Amino acid sequence: MQTAHELFIHELTDMLDAENRLVEALGKQSEEVSNAELKKGLAAHQRQTQKQAQRVQQIFEELGESPEQTECKGIRGLVEEQQTFSEEEDPSEDLLDIFTTGANIKVERYEISAYESLIRLAQLMKHRKAVQLLQENLREEQQTEKKLSVLARKLKPENLGMGEEEQEEETPSRRSPGSRRSRKAA
Ligand SMILES: [Fe+2]
Repeated sequence: MQTAHELFIHELTDMLDAENRLVEALGKQSEEVSNAELKKGLAAHQRQTQKQAQRVQQIFEELGESPEQTECKGIRGLVEEQQTFSEEEDPSEDLLDIFTTGANIKVERYEISAYESLIRLAQLMKHRKAVQLLQENLREEQQTEKKLSVLARKLKPENLGMGEEEQEEETPSRRSPGSRRSRKAA
C-alpha cells in the first residue's frame, strides 16, 4: 500500500464491518439487559448504528469504490468479550447491566478514535462529503458515550461481596454527605 487513498479505503472497510457487527450485537444485548434505561438506550443506538453503516456505505459510493468489509478485529474482540462474560460467568442481572454498559463505553471510545482518524485522512484528501458524513457518525458516537457514562455512574451493584466486618467499616463513609453538610453549616 502506498497511497493515503488506499489507507482511507482500508480503514473504511474496517469501519463498515465494525458498524454491521455492532448492529447485530446491540440487538442481542438490548434483549439481555434488565435496566430499562440501558435496554432503551441500546435499542436506540442499534437503530442509529444502522444509519451509521449506511453513511459509511455512502462514502464508498461517493468515491466510486465498492463497499467492502474487512474484519474489524478490535470491535469483534470487544463484542466477543461481552458475549463471553454473559454466557460463561452466569452474572446476576445488575452485574450484567454494569458490564454491558462498560463494554459499550469501550466500543464508543474505540469508534470515536477510529472516526477521528478517518476524518483526518478525509480532510487531508479534501473529500468534503466524506468529512461531513464521518462527522455525523462521530457526533452520534460522542453523544452515546456521554449517555452511557452518565448511566454507568447510576448503576449500583447489589452485592459488594464484602464480609460483614468490612461492610460495617463502610457505614461511616455512607454518612459522609450529611457530615459534609454539617461542616459547611458550621
Ligand atoms: Fe457506531
